[in-house]
Amino acid sequence: MISATATNPKSVSTKNDYVLFDRGTKAFVYGYQTNAIQRMLDFDYICKRDSPSISAIINSNRAGIHKAFWGTKEIILPMFKTIAEAAKAHPEADVMVNFASHRSAFETTMEALERKTIRTVVVIAEGVPERQARILAATARKLGKTVIGPATVGGMTAGAFRIGNTAGTIENIIASKLYRPGSVGFVSKSGGMLNEAFNIISRNSNGVHEGVAIGGDRYPGSNMLDHIMRYEANPEIKMIACLGELGGTDEYRIIEALKAGKITKPLVAWVTGTCGPVLPSSVQFGHAGAKADSQKETAQAKNEAFKNAGAYVPNSFDNYGEMVKQVYEMLKSQGKVKDVVEPEVPRLPVDYSKALTSGLIRKPTTFICTISDDSGDELLYAGKKISDVLEQKVGIGGVVGLLWFKKQLPDYATRFIELVLQIVADHGPAVSAAHNSIVASCAGKDLISSLCSGLLTIGPRFGGAIDDAAREFKRAKETGLSPEQFVGEMKRKGINIPGIGHRIKSVKNPDVRVLLLIEYARKNFARTELLDYALEVERLTTAKKGNLILNVDGCIGILFLDLMSSCGAFTKAEIDEVVKLGYLNGLFALGRSIGLIGHILDQKRLGARLYRHPTEDIAYMLPKPEDIDCKR
Ligand code: ACO
Ligand code: LMR
Repeated sequence: MISATATNPKSVSTKNDYVLFDRGTKAFVYGYQTNAIQRMLDFDYICKRDSPSISAIINSNRAGIHKAFWGTKEIILPMFKTIAEAAKAHPEADVMVNFASHRSAFETTMEALERKTIRTVVVIAEGVPERQARILAATARKLGKTVIGPATVGGMTAGAFRIGNTAGTIENIIASKLYRPGSVGFVSKSGGMLNEAFNIISRNSNGVHEGVAIGGDRYPGSNMLDHIMRYEANPEIKMIACLGELGGTDEYRIIEALKAGKITKPLVAWVTGTCGPVLPSSVQFGHAGAKADSQKETAQAKNEAFKNAGAYVPNSFDNYGEMVKQVYEMLKSQGKVKDVVEPEVPRLPVDYSKALTSGLIRKPTTFICTISDDSGDELLYAGKKISDVLEQKVGIGGVVGLLWFKKQLPDYATRFIELVLQIVADHGPAVSAAHNSIVASCAGKDLISSLCSGLLTIGPRFGGAIDDAAREFKRAKETGLSPEQFVGEMKRKGINIPGIGHRIKSVKNPDVRVLLLIEYARKNFARTELLDYALEVERLTTAKKGNLILNVDGCIGILFLDLMSSCGAFTKAEIDEVVKLGYLNGLFALGRSIGLIGHILDQKRLGARLYRHPTEDIAYMLPKPEDIDCKR
């Protein structure tokens, strides 16, 4: 794992005043902008920087870490809640890319400027009040620092440092050869024109060395001349290009500097907005500052003034690239610039999600789900919209039909399921599951743990004999065993017939729940053949012992088989699968959970204390000491 904060001595930058960003630049990103963060790192990676340009993220919501990619490897970026903490931990970072909204851009930028180690702040936000923007500009000048923006995409030093999302996709960056420095310094107001200019300059010269968009607001933190004078001072930059806009007088600062001989390198200039005069008077163009309030502020006037001051001004923006080429070729003939031998550009892996959605890659899924789908606009139960499930009032029995059986069952079938759930919901605090849930709750366990404790008692003797009963009675009947033969076979095997027997219910004390289930089946099912068979078995077993009745587990399992075989919604194969996979114990667990939760809540309400079983209720029958001595 490459640590993003390891600063390689070689890469620690020793910047001249005219250099804001170089291959050693380390920055903070204010605001959890994960896409912009990854784009900056991807740029660093294709530029073959020694280490990432981001020292840390400042996220006012939480501190911690952020995982990002360095090529195909993952790196950890530290995340701080405040600028102060980040600056203290990472004094090497002298840039802050500020993604704060217009509501907090001013205060966070001022706080960053007050940090000794931070030299440059890029303010991305649009809508920063002009008064605040003017204070930012004045503060930066007073401190000898640089603010780029507000309302900017930022800028970049080719082959060294990218601000946020500058220059768009990595494909555009590679096409504009921004992974290595050229000889042209560029500045504009507009971020869009910056990206366009990268492309134009890369096609008509040896490429951009540095490009900055100062932002389209009326009062930028730094103006175009500030950056042009940095380019003038930078020996790596041999020619300068700029794109102005109608409105304001920023361009005249450059023109005056040209006239005063402060700019000696050739300057290609164009001011956009020449269509202004053909439109109704003083149209407000996109940027706040793009409105010509006087003739002097028109694009035509500025282009004329640039030309008169010695700048290279094309006839229109369409010829901007040609003009760049003309100046570049002139410098080349003077031996001041030369074409760049393109370095090999590291291949940047495509993000998995992008590759998947664009069909570049495919991967086998880990799971298959055939019962529900939450990936679309609306949740689907077995393909049925949840809104339809509710509108058609399919009920909880219908939802069980959809999610367990993937069938919209007939109403009497869904009502049977609901009858079962109601009947098994509870059977008092004495039964195994309720007892365990109560004891767990008295031990202070939470609801879910106490519920699980109770559910764990469901098994072949209690609540979990539904599937066993369905399987055994189905087998007996399908193999042609008479009830007598079936009872005799199970006796010979020494197996208690699942679905038969109860601790307290008996012929004399019948289980009303069973009677209710049978009554419903008799009334609603087309056939109840397996029930009839089971009742024959019950006649035989109760002849032996009164408590060997068809119990509620057995009744549910047997009736569900009668339901499936008579309702026409299930094939034989599907019925066999229900028995084989053991669907039906789920009905007891689902229903009994209602009662168990009731008991748990009951005990919590009562403030019941830890349960300890009375010792007088335990027969202690220990071995004698001499019987356990195995050391002889
Ligand atoms: N089939 C055949 N014989 C049985 C059955 C049965 N299902 N259940 C008990 N017997 C016999 C025993 O073999 C024993 O015979 P013996 O006296 O000759 O040894 C006698 O009846 C008493 O057996 P016990 O297990 O002591 O009877 P008990 O009343 O404790 O058992 C129980 C109740 C656990 C439900 C038992 O009947 C049984 O295991 N049934 C099968 C599992 C089942 O259906 N459980 C669901 C119960 S309902 C519910 O949990 C919601
Ligand atoms: C139940 O529903 O819990 C039972 O029938 C078991 C019992 O012992 O009552």
